[in-house]
Amino acid sequence: MQVPINEDFMSKTTARAFSNIALVKYWGKRDEEKMLPQNSSVSVTLSDMYATTTVEFSAGLTKHELMLNGESYFSGSSEYSKVESVLKRIKKTASTGLNAKVVSKNNFPTSAGFASSAAGLAALAVAASKAIDLSLSKKELSILARYGSGSASRSVLGGFVKWNRGEKDDGSDSYATEVVSDTYWPEFRILAVSVSNLRKKIKSSDAMRRTVATSPYYTKWPKEAERDVQKIENAIKKRDIKSVGEIAERSAFSMHGLMMTAKPPILYFLPKTIELINVIAQLREKESVNAYVTIDAGPQVKILCLKKDIDYIKEKIAKINDIQKIFESRPGTGPQFLSDHLF
Ligand code: DP6
Repeated sequence: MQVPINEDFMSKTTARAFSNIALVKYWGKRDEEKMLPQNSSVSVTLSDMYATTTVEFSAGLTKHELMLNGESYFSGSSEYSKVESVLKRIKKTASTGLNAKVVSKNNFPTSAGFASSAAGLAALAVAASKAIDLSLSKKELSILARYGSGSASRSVLGGFVKWNRGEKDDGSDSYATEVVSDTYWPEFRILAVSVSNLRKKIKSSDAMRRTVATSPYYTKWPKEAERDVQKIENAIKKRDIKSVGEIAERSAFSMHGLMMTAKPPILYFLPKTIELINVIAQLREKESVNAYVTIDAGPQVKILCLKKDIDYIKEKIAKINDIQKIFESRPGTGPQFLSDHLF
């Protein structure tokens, strides 16, 4: 449809999308502009960590406006350019010249150090397409969110999600699909543990670019990851926590290992990160608790486990000094529309 530019046009929509944690990591792009990954990845959507985003297209705006967690961002910042690239595609699809005001808020403190771009950009894709009256399929929404941030392509779905690498140069086959829904494995739990509230030194997109360009070991990664994706899909379908945990932990450590072999090397772990890794390993080895870790482009640790063990694991973590915050989630749903607006 063609959206007319007239002075009265105003359309506002609010959507909520949930964060996701990759179990088999996406690490490396084969096309920076189209945000095409080197490998497929698998994630779980988080029930309790989300972004709520309001988008309003209006004839009165000469450029897009962006506010994230109460702070304004302008052209030139990486936050603004991620939002801009999603809106650019929407404007093209809707054949409109209108600009949008975007206001987004996370339900967890930004200082907790958890990447919120996946949830925020998925919420943006969902809210903006509705606001401009485009009716998009999940596949189209996933592709749209991908242009903002690779991991956002997975947050347009709930449950356990696979982002297929795809083969085509135009990226039309690189989007996320559901492995199993949010109700398939209700006992699965994710504990997101914040060990530091310092801002990370290097953004994930820069870190992955450097790894692909300079690590002599990177060539092994895409094939290994593809094998892990197949294995973890089966393990998820069997609700096999041991296999899921082992594959996820190895994928995270392989990704960090690769980064450490980049030039110059990238090291996100802090002493507390390693302390937590060891506590979880000991729980497993000495007490046969099925708990595993996964770590993204930062020092925070996410623990994968089952509901029955959660209180015991939390008790153990509480004994570690200086843990900033813990967020507990189970597999969450896909995005939702909200009637209340943020502005
Ligand atoms: C370690 O999706 O934040 O979390 O596509 O450049 O925006 P861009 O990167 P982003 O990277 C996520 C990296 C990761 C692994 C993952 O989520 O699969």
